[in-house]
Amino acid sequence: MTTLQAIRWENGKLEILDQILLPAISRYIPVRGVEDGWKVINNMQVRGAPAIAIVGCLSLATEIKNEEYTDKKSLRQDVEGKLNYLASARPTAVNMKIAADELIQLANKLTKDDSVNVTEMKERFFEAIEAMLEKDIADNKAIGDFGAQEILKNVSGDHSVRILTHCNTGSLATAGYGTALGVIRSLHKKNSLEHAYCSETRPYNQGARLTAYELVYEKIPATLICDDMVAALMKSRNISAVVVGADRVAANGDTANKIGTYQIAIVAKYHNVPFYVAAPRTSIDFSIPNGDHIVIEERPEREMTHINNQRIAAPGIQCWNPAFDVTPASLIKGIITEVGVYRPEDLIQLKNCETS
Ligand code: MRU
Repeated sequence: MTTLQAIRWENGKLEILDQILLPAISRYIPVRGVEDGWKVINNMQVRGAPAIAIVGCLSLATEIKNEEYTDKKSLRQDVEGKLNYLASARPTAVNMKIAADELIQLANKLTKDDSVNVTEMKERFFEAIEAMLEKDIADNKAIGDFGAQEILKNVSGDHSVRILTHCNTGSLATAGYGTALGVIRSLHKKNSLEHAYCSETRPYNQGARLTAYELVYEKIPATLICDDMVAALMKSRNISAVVVGADRVAANGDTANKIGTYQIAIVAKYHNVPFYVAAPRTSIDFSIPNGDHIVIEERPEREMTHINNQRIAAPGIQCWNPAFDVTPASLIKGIITEVGVYRPEDLIQLKNCETS
């Protein structure tokens, strides 16, 4: 079976699967440079923290490929300005910012290195950006395996589990396989998944449109619920664990993820259901001590008031549309990364480990 692919990168050409049109229409659109990259990220034609970073960086790669630079300093300045611009497209997801910082560091290093000329410097950028695609898939597979092991270890005597997830964290949100959805995929591969539940994820409906699409596509036994059914589900369906993704994890483990995640974590605590965050190290922001420092993106009202251009909310009503909320570390049993599962208080051990 062919796998779902959010990002197509071939011979220096970038295309993304337009996620606004899914599940009705499957259409790839070209991304020809940084301006296009910023737009497709900002209007959520591509979304999910890892996919945002990869598409942002690849859009830069397409652009610098065709530029002529007379010297390394002007290449470095151009790259830095464009990366910072790309990081502004969706402020909560930290992966783009972390990728930007790493590439700017590389630019600084290469600018100072007299053995590298401007053409070689461009090539080194390309290599670094292209490596992100493969690394993301490998990291996600490792997250999937660590997560599956952890969940099975914690459900004594029950070797077939029922998992609830929120938003979309699968192939569509990453370079492939997915993070929280990767854990569900790994459990399914091990024949250890009895059932997956995905919540609708209003207002943008990533659960109903995208996660449900991936689960059906891969023939994983799954059921869609509305966001307001989580408590009823936990009371009646013997849920083994909740696994969600992350847009930014603070140094103490507080986690920003799709709006609604926080209330699911509270309900999980009440019902004694372990709550896990699955995220690569590139989603961890050690520069902030806790979740109070995370900027929460607010999106246009229209995402709430309209579905497919049809107004569903009473005209004249005011709306509040934060795209994310912060789940406190105290509600999180473990953070599943590509190098293992960490309790929030132990996350700091990863601080000085290289991510690339
Ligand atoms: O607004 P979105 O769709 O970009 O939000 C996506 C999420 O909140 C995901 O859970 C997160 O980015 C992790 S994706 C692997």
